[in-house]
Amino acid sequence: MLYKAIAALGLALLLAGWSQRRKRSVHVPLVIAGIAIDLTLVLILEFSRDVIGMTVEKQWSWQQWTHISTSAAAVLVYFPVIWFGVALLRGKAGPAARTAHRRLANLALALRTIGFAFMWYV
Ligand code: HEM
Repeated sequence: MLYKAIAALGLALLLAGWSQRRKRSVHVPLVIAGIAIDLTLVLILEFSRDVIGMTVEKQWSWQQWTHISTSAAAVLVYFPVIWFGVALLRGKAGPAARTAHRRLANLALALRTIGFAFMWYV
């Protein structure tokens, strides 16, 4: 239950940050906090329960697979999102990097939202 609450807080920060995407000074701290919480949760779950090992061994339902695959994919997509976000902050990024940031960030958020919806089956 505690982990679900932490996951909800992470997603809430990401959604709040997304809603403030035009306001850098608000957008960046909110999304960084949300990503940090998500990444910390992944590490906690792996070290406390060996989730990755369990994923390989156990037979999961399709709902559980949806949760696992979309949540794992979202965390992987965070890295290029951060990369392009930092480039935008440095002012060295052109329109292409901005579009890449937007598309990847929206993809990560969509994956994370689906993963969150299916978290209740795990
Ligand atoms: C999952 C997390 C994130 C989401 C959903 C997200 C989403 C977005 C979206 C949709 C935009 C608007 C782009 C446009 O309209 O062209 C944007 C802009 C921006 N993002 Fe993110 N982003 C995320 C993470 C980050 C991170 C980690 C950073 C910095 C390290 C960052 C820095 C920026 C900057 C600097 C802008 C330009 C803001 C402006 O001046 O208009 N973002 N983001």
